[in-house]
Amino acid sequence: PAIEFELEAPFSIDYHDSVGSTNDRARELANDGETDVAVVANEQTGGRGRLEREWSAPAGGVWVSIVTRPTITPAQAPLYTLAASVAIATVAREAGVDARIKWPNDVVVPVGEDGDYRKLAGILTEMEGQTDRVDWLVPGIGVNANLDSDGLPEGATSIRDEAGDVDRRHFVQRLLEEFDRYRTDLEAVVPAWRELALTLGQRVRVERSAGEVVGEAIDVTDSGALVIETDDDERVTVSAGDCEHLRP
Ligand code: BTN
Repeated sequence: PAIEFELEAPFSIDYHDSVGSTNDRARELANDGETDVAVVANEQTGGRGRLEREWSAPAGGVWVSIVTRPTITPAQAPLYTLAASVAIATVAREAGVDARIKWPNDVVVPVGEDGDYRKLAGILTEMEGQTDRVDWLVPGIGVNANLDSDGLPEGATSIRDEAGDVDRRHFVQRLLEEFDRYRTDLEAVVPAWRELALTLGQRVRVERSAGEVVGEAIDVTDSGALVIETDDDERVTVSAGDCEHLRP
C-alpha cells in the first residue's frame, strides 16, 4: 500500500488514494471470497450514505469499509453495526471529542442539553446471505476527521472542528482494534453502546416502514432494537428506522 499501517488487529489493508466508494470496492473483494480486509481511502468520489443518500467524502476524512464473514444470523447483523459505532465513538473520544451515539449508529457530538447534536460519523452496512446465515457483511464507516465542517453538509461536524486534526493512520488502526474487540465479544456491545448513547432518555420520532413511533427512548434490547414508551404508555420496540430527537 501507499501508506503503511501497523496493525494489532487481524485485518489487511486495501488502500486507495481515490476510489468511487469503499463499500463498492469491499463488495467486490467479498464476492471474490476475501475476508478481514479493510478498504481505506483518502478520498471517495461517489461516497454513499444510508437511504440512498450521497455522502460527502473529500480527502482528509476517514473512509473505511471492512469485509467480514461473521458466523451470525441476519437477525444479529445490527449488533455488528452497533459494534462499529461503539468503536468509532471510543476512538473519537480518545482524540478529545465528546462523541456520543444516536440510535442506531450515528456518531454525534451533543450541542446543548436538549438532545441536539452535530453528526461526526455514519455507518452504511451492506451484507449478503440467506435467511439463516450471513455470507459477508461490510460495515462502511465514514468519519469527518481532518475536514472543515464549513465544507460539509448542514448539521455536520468534524474532529478538526471539535478537537483538532488526528493522525488518520493511527485513527484507523485504533478503529480496527476496537471493532475487532467488539465483534469477537458481541455480548459487550450493547452495554458499551448504552454508556455512549445520546438517544436514551430523549423524546424521539422513529420513521419505519410500518409507520412512525413517537415517545421516550427508554432502552435498547440485547439485539440493539430501540424500546420507546409512547404517550399512551405503550412500549414499542423498533429494530430499524430513521430516528429524530425531538425537543422536550
Ligand atoms: C450514513 O448515511 O450516515 C452512513 C454514511 C456512511 C459513509 C461511509 S464512508 C465509507 C463507506 N463508503 C461509502 O460509500 N459509504 C460508507
